Amino acid sequence: MADPSQTLVPLLQDAMAAALGEEFRSADPVIRRSAQDKFGDYQANAAMALAKTTGRPPREVAEAVVGRLRGEGVVAKAEVAGPGFINLTLEDAFLGRQAQAAAADPRLGVSEVGEPCRFVLDYGGANVAKELLVHHMRSPVIGDAMARVLGHLGHVVIRQDHLGDWGRQFGMLIEHLVDLGWEAGSAGQRTISDLNVLYQEAQTKFDGGGVFAERARRRVVQLQAGEAETVALWQALVDESERHFQAVYRRLGLTIGPDDIRAESFYNPMLEPMARELEEKGLARMDQGALCVFPEGFTGRDGQPLPVIIRNSEGAYLYAATDVAAVRYSTEDLKGERLVYFTDARQSQHFAMVFAVCREAGWLGPDSTAEHAPFGNVVGEDGRPLRTRSGDSIKLADLLDEAVARARAVVEEKSPDLGPEEQTAVAEAVGVGGLKYHDLANDRVKDYVFDWDRMLAREGNTAPYLQYAHARIRSILRRAEAGASEASGPGVAGAGGAGETSTPAESPAVLVAEPQERALVLALLGFEVAVESVAEGMSPHRLCTYLFDLASTFTSFYEACPVLRAEPAVRDSRLVLCRLTASILSTGLGLLGIEAPERM
Ligand code: ARG
Repeated sequence: MADPSQTLVPLLQDAMAAALGEEFRSADPVIRRSAQDKFGDYQANAAMALAKTTGRPPREVAEAVVGRLRGEGVVAKAEVAGPGFINLTLEDAFLGRQAQAAAADPRLGVSEVGEPCRFVLDYGGANVAKELLVHHMRSPVIGDAMARVLGHLGHVVIRQDHLGDWGRQFGMLIEHLVDLGWEAGSAGQRTISDLNVLYQEAQTKFDGGGVFAERARRRVVQLQAGEAETVALWQALVDESERHFQAVYRRLGLTIGPDDIRAESFYNPMLEPMARELEEKGLARMDQGALCVFPEGFTGRDGQPLPVIIRNSEGAYLYAATDVAAVRYSTEDLKGERLVYFTDARQSQHFAMVFAVCREAGWLGPDSTAEHAPFGNVVGEDGRPLRTRSGDSIKLADLLDEAVARARAVVEEKSPDLGPEEQTAVAEAVGVGGLKYHDLANDRVKDYVFDWDRMLAREGNTAPYLQYAHARIRSILRRAEAGASEASGPGVAGAGGAGETSTPAESPAVLVAEPQERALVLALLGFEVAVESVAEGMSPHRLCTYLFDLASTFTSFYEACPVLRAEPAVRDSRLVLCRLTASILSTGLGLLGIEAPERM
């Protein structure tokens, strides 16, 4: 709506129809923001494609379109450049009106999509009895940002936390709990101080073989048979782990919660009938004692078809089988139209094969699609997965504590005027926000180097930089308000007799004169495109790049253009830009799941 390209598209389409023929009215004029000022504000890059269809040289096509462009009031200058780019410079007054409209719009110029889609986002997916480590942050942090962005655009978003709570390891874990004196009835009151230690101890005993390993095997059978005491112990372990996961998720400020858990065990009763159906459909067959589907198009290095193992030779249903059931549940029961899975890149093949099986079985498509949104590793300076100096894995809860402690030190130093309570809140926002932003700001699919200094730096593409930029603007706005109420005296706000109909306060006109003002307006009007591009590529880093660019553009504006000292009309106009910048920064950070404190 505020995005100028939406005004430019029909103008260019009229010009294409006039210059080339009516059949070109529906062609995409390929409007993009210009990369450099010398190429104008926007470019229409359709001439290259149109040259192919018309058989005329692209420059000639571009000239013809420019010749018929009726851009009065919108386009100040249209020039053909290079092989056939049309460089468009927009009217200052038009930009001012668009900015004014965005400022008056509660959605800040970001419209909702015309046709909402029903998304099922699978993220979180922690594993019971395993403590959350640093790399476990990626799925929930990225998935949650995407859930917020897609929801903001008006899509329906169903969150699914595919909790790993099933499998053979629970036999040994339960037996270990029994050795530790857990009893089904009292289990709920006990706490596990360290889930990882528990797991390692159980594993060591199991690897030792003997009686314990035998007991563990029997426990698995009992668990699968639903034996009451075994299930109670298992449940206690799940509950205990859940407490830990949810505490970390809450601290991370995620929108995913206990209600979104759809654990592996949930699908367990569906697996046997599903296996039978796959056999009946002629898709699954026995191979070396295991029930397998060999989806089309997947072969190993030896050229042999690769199996998705539904049930192994011991009769156990594995991870892939559960995911086939989960895809089916998401399309058939949740009515999902687009399923997106946020896990690390190592599972790409797994998901590709699961989706292929589901397509062959008719549980996916034509009304539904599934995609894997993979991400890279969190690595240290050496490019290897991040660990402590002694080589231990890093617990996510400890990482959060350290991030907040480091942020607290900075806040105490830089913001001594804040009271202790506010300092605590700001430190939490900067520490947790810094950590999340550090994860989101890099292209999702790539590894990124974990770096405390970069993460909490007040300069550069970081959360603290954006948070400080936002708080600084809020303080300008507070000063403006204080000045205004001083100038007009008390009681003015409510003025206007009872007889007058109160019209909603119109946003003052936005005057675009200085180049830095212009640059800021153009940046502000790009919010919608930025949010859409995040949705398009499941790429939260694009929003980070946008917000960083906006905050930098604002800084240049504020250095060049006085606000509070300007004459009234200019001052009002610039205050609109300040307010809109602050709103976009806080809304944008909010879409990433990051808080923007009012004062810092
Ligand atoms: N628990 C899994 C793991 O740790 C992640 C689950 C991802 N979601 C899914 N539907 N498979 O790798």
